Amino acid sequence: MPITTCIFDAYGTLFDVAAAARQAATEPAFAAIKDTWPALAEHWRQKQLQYTWLRAVTGAHTDFWQVTQDGLDWALEKTGHHGDAVLRERLLALYWELQAYPEVPAMLHSLKDAGLNTAILSNGSPDMLAGAVTSAGIADVLDDSLSVQSVGVFKPDARVYDLVRQRFGCAKDEVLFVSSNGWDAAAATGYGFRTAWVNRAGEPVDRLPWTPSDVLSDLTGIPMLAGI
Ligand code: LAC
Repeated sequence: MPITTCIFDAYGTLFDVAAAARQAATEPAFAAIKDTWPALAEHWRQKQLQYTWLRAVTGAHTDFWQVTQDGLDWALEKTGHHGDAVLRERLLALYWELQAYPEVPAMLHSLKDAGLNTAILSNGSPDMLAGAVTSAGIADVLDDSLSVQSVGVFKPDARVYDLVRQRFGCAKDEVLFVSSNGWDAAAATGYGFRTAWVNRAGEPVDRLPWTPSDVLSDLTGIPMLAGI
């Protein structure tokens, strides 16, 4: 089946999740994280994801914003910044306006120019996604932002991937699902989508029962994978 629908993970895939800590580290008020911001960003991201998986398997769903704050609180304590309320507030504010990776607007424009459906499918809550899409200036090249909030469980539960077919009425094998999270791309392969793992950091492939259909180092190759 030709690809009719390109679906993107949000955080880490379209939006650079390290940008919040990187930006804060350049600001004089937050010189305390000048050297440690990469570790802070990494711990924040890893805990945020771990909490989504744990909440999914235990049925203890909550809003992604809560999980994002919980992950940050763990990371701040781990890196010696526990109790720094001003830093915490600044990092959370920056999370609402994360930068998109530089190739994102042109890549989405070429998919839309070719008549493909484009959307985000994310753990993010609708208001978080709206904030990031607006600040990245890509609202006009996305048909929708699909949030797990409507099914009340985080990725990689199959009910999340089902949202794509419900929205676009397409077959699974018409969908190219793109994620920088190896586990997300792998699970979406298991679900039945064609998948692309955007492996910017050259990470090893996740040892799971499924593997991504394709592996790219950034998003510039997505239109070609979609058959354009
Ligand atoms: C998301 C996380 C997994 O956007 O990056 O769903």
